[in-house]
Amino acid sequence: MNPSAEKFARHVNPALVRLLGVFGYGRVFIRARDVWVWDDQGRRYLDFLAGFGSVNIGHSHPRLVRRLQEFLASEAMNVTHIGPSIHAAELAEALAMLAHPLEIALFSNSGSEAVEAGLKLARSATSRTEFIYCQGAFHGTNLGALSVMGDERMRRPFEPLLEGCRRVPFGDLAELEKALAPRRAAGFLVEPIQGEGGVVFPPEGYLREAQELCLRAGTLFILDEVQTGLGRTGAMFSYQAEECAPDILILAKSLGGSIAPIGATLTTRKIHHKAYGSMDRFDLHGTTFSGNAFSCVAALETLRILADENLVANSAARGKQLLEGLKSRLAGHPLVREVRGRGLFVGIELGATDSGWMNKHARPLVKKISKSVFGQWAALKMLEKGIICQPASHNWNVLRLEPPLTVKEAEVHQVVDSVAEVLGEYQGVAPLLKDVTGRLGKQFAKGWAF
Ligand SMILES: Cc1ncc(COP(=O)(O)O)c(C=O)c1O
Repeated sequence: MNPSAEKFARHVNPALVRLLGVFGYGRVFIRARDVWVWDDQGRRYLDFLAGFGSVNIGHSHPRLVRRLQEFLASEAMNVTHIGPSIHAAELAEALAMLAHPLEIALFSNSGSEAVEAGLKLARSATSRTEFIYCQGAFHGTNLGALSVMGDERMRRPFEPLLEGCRRVPFGDLAELEKALAPRRAAGFLVEPIQGEGGVVFPPEGYLREAQELCLRAGTLFILDEVQTGLGRTGAMFSYQAEECAPDILILAKSLGGSIAPIGATLTTRKIHHKAYGSMDRFDLHGTTFSGNAFSCVAALETLRILADENLVANSAARGKQLLEGLKSRLAGHPLVREVRGRGLFVGIELGATDSGWMNKHARPLVKKISKSVFGQWAALKMLEKGIICQPASHNWNVLRLEPPLTVKEAEVHQVVDSVAEVLGEYQGVAPLLKDVTGRLGKQFAKGWAF
């Protein structure tokens, strides 16, 4: 086995390396620039996963790298706990201009922490304890975020979680209204488009109406734009296309330009004041590295790059090309249920359709195979064609595509062609099962080599 993979298996994540060995997916990636990634054998890949949507400005953006080199060379103070940080102040002001009227930022080091900050903020501002969240939601993996995780596989090993968290179906206003009725919920936390749930869209007008229902119930409307934010869906924030406005907006992932870990939880002055406005509350939220200068400088430069390079508009244009290209090439495919997306946030749902003998006569089997192997297998075949993508973590039958927003027309074209070729080989489950079992046999013979 590759020595780094071996060390990783021994000291970091044994199960991941074993899992990669099932199909022989193993690669050791060592370098990344813009939409391209290289492995240790010198092979080049187009990155249509982009750190699960955290590389919006492209890998190793030279302008960001230069800015951070300058910053490090300047011997600036990185962690300032005993006074205002000039870099946190600059970044918070820039975010406030983008997310008006949300004008105060709580900084953190990840999406999960930023969600945690949102939950605490809502509790503290409303003096209520409960939360409402959606089936299929993904908000992170710390205990707070897990309490509002809409997927059993990911939450069960850690239960019992926070009390008073109530789950409602995503997109269902009647159920949301019922959950809000006791007026005990501090916040309703929702993704504008569910990412890990499988690039799932709510019905038209859902977010606007949900905001209205929350307002009437005295519950804060909290939007998690960790994955959809910062241009991913062809708008700076996804909610802007929905004409709604959150009380709390959660950002992370691509905010740090894929180099610096940073999360931001934005809110109004009024809500922040209720939660943390008095002098005995100034330090109730924060961590040692939250708002550190390095991450704030990275985030500020990332916002500038997004604006200067018109990346939000590129996301809309290239996203349209990707979506239309896939829709046209996959139309009528018996195992493609839907191609959906907005901007560069696209999902291909695999599974039983209404055409084909197997779909009609062995539907449960086709469904099961699509759920358990098809997405993973398609991702492997794409990798072998030099394209990185992955299924959604709650729904393995949805292959999601979310490249850096710098992606060009020819690269989108290449990916559409490759997806069409890969899925074109599997017009039914029989060839899929044949190829999968053939590969399992080979991997078994090789001792499940990474
Ligand atoms: C919508 C959403 N919220 C929160 C998170 C958690 O972010 P992090 O992995 O940075 O903790 C994720 C991660 O995928 C996410 O997609």
